[in-house]
Amino acid sequence: MVFRDDLFAEKVVLITGGGTGIGKQMALDFGSMGAHVVVAARREEPLQQTVDLIEEAGGAASFYTLDIRDDERIDEVVGAIFEDQEGLDILINNAGGNFVGPAMAMSPNGWRTIIDINLNGTFLMCRAVAQQWLARDFPGRIINMSATNAHNGSPLMAHSGASKAGINSLTETLAVEWGGTGITVNAVLPGPVRTEGSDERLWTDPDTVKKLESRIPLGRFARPADISPLVQFLASDAASLITGSLITIDGGDRLRTPDF
Ligand code: COA
Repeated sequence: MVFRDDLFAEKVVLITGGGTGIGKQMALDFGSMGAHVVVAARREEPLQQTVDLIEEAGGAASFYTLDIRDDERIDEVVGAIFEDQEGLDILINNAGGNFVGPAMAMSPNGWRTIIDINLNGTFLMCRAVAQQWLARDFPGRIINMSATNAHNGSPLMAHSGASKAGINSLTETLAVEWGGTGITVNAVLPGPVRTEGSDERLWTDPDTVKKLESRIPLGRFARPADISPLVQFLASDAASLITGSLITIDGGDRLRTPDF
C-alpha cells in the first residue's frame, strides 16, 4: 500500500468486476484504506471471496450480482447502493470482456458482445450513477478502465480495441458535459497486464511473453498492484482538478519499436 490507510475513510466505492484480476486488487486496496467497497459482477463466488478478504483484513465490503449489459438491473443495483450506503463517492468501471481471435473470424454476436460489455456497459454505469449524483448535487468521481490497445492497434482483439477507443472518447465527452457539476471522469490505460485470468487465456506461451516483455522499455508486463495506486490517486482529493484525462501505465510499451 502506497497511500495513507485512512485515505478513503467514510467513502463508498463501487467497482464493477471486482471479483478477479485488477478489480479485485483495487477492491482490496480501497478496503485497506478505509473505504466501504461494493463489488458488482456476474458471478457470486468471486465477489463473495473479495468481500471475505476485505472483511478478514478489518475492512467493510458488500457485493451485488450484476451484468453491466442489463440497464434495468444497473438501475436496481445503483439505487440499492445509494440507499444502503447512503450515497456513493467513487465509481470504477472495471468490468470487461475479451477473447482472442482474428477479425475475419469474429461472429457478429462475438463482436457485439464485447462492445456491449465494455463500451455500452461503461456508458450505462456512468449514466445511472451520475443521475443519482445530480439528484443529490454531489460531485463524485468516475474512473474508467481503458487500455492502450485503444490507440496502438489491437491485432486479434479488434472488438476490445474498438471498445476501449470508445471508452476514451466517452470519458472525454462526459468530463466536458458533467464538468459543471463537479463530477470528474478519467480513464486509466494499462498496457499488457498479467493476471490469473490473462495468464490462463492470453499469456500461455512463455517464449511469446519473454519476447513481448523484452520490447517494453521497463522490461515487464504490469501486475494489478501496478495499476491500483493510479486509480486510488485519481479517486483521491489530490486529483480534484484532473478530469477528461486518459492516463497510460504501460512501462513505456507504447513507445517501443519492433527493432529496438
Ligand atoms: N472465441 C470466439 N468467439 C467467442 C469466444 C472465443 N473465445 N468467446 C465468446 N465468443 C463469442 C461466442 O461464440 C458468441 O458468439 P456466437 O453466438 O456467434 O457464437 C458470443 O461471443 C457471445 O459469447 P457468450 O459466451 O455467449 O457470451 P457471454 O456474455 O456469456 O461471455 C465473455 C462473453 C467475453 C465474457 C466470455 O467470452 C468470457 O468469459 N471471456 C473470458 C473472461 C473475460 O473476458 N474476462 C475479462 C478480461 S478483460
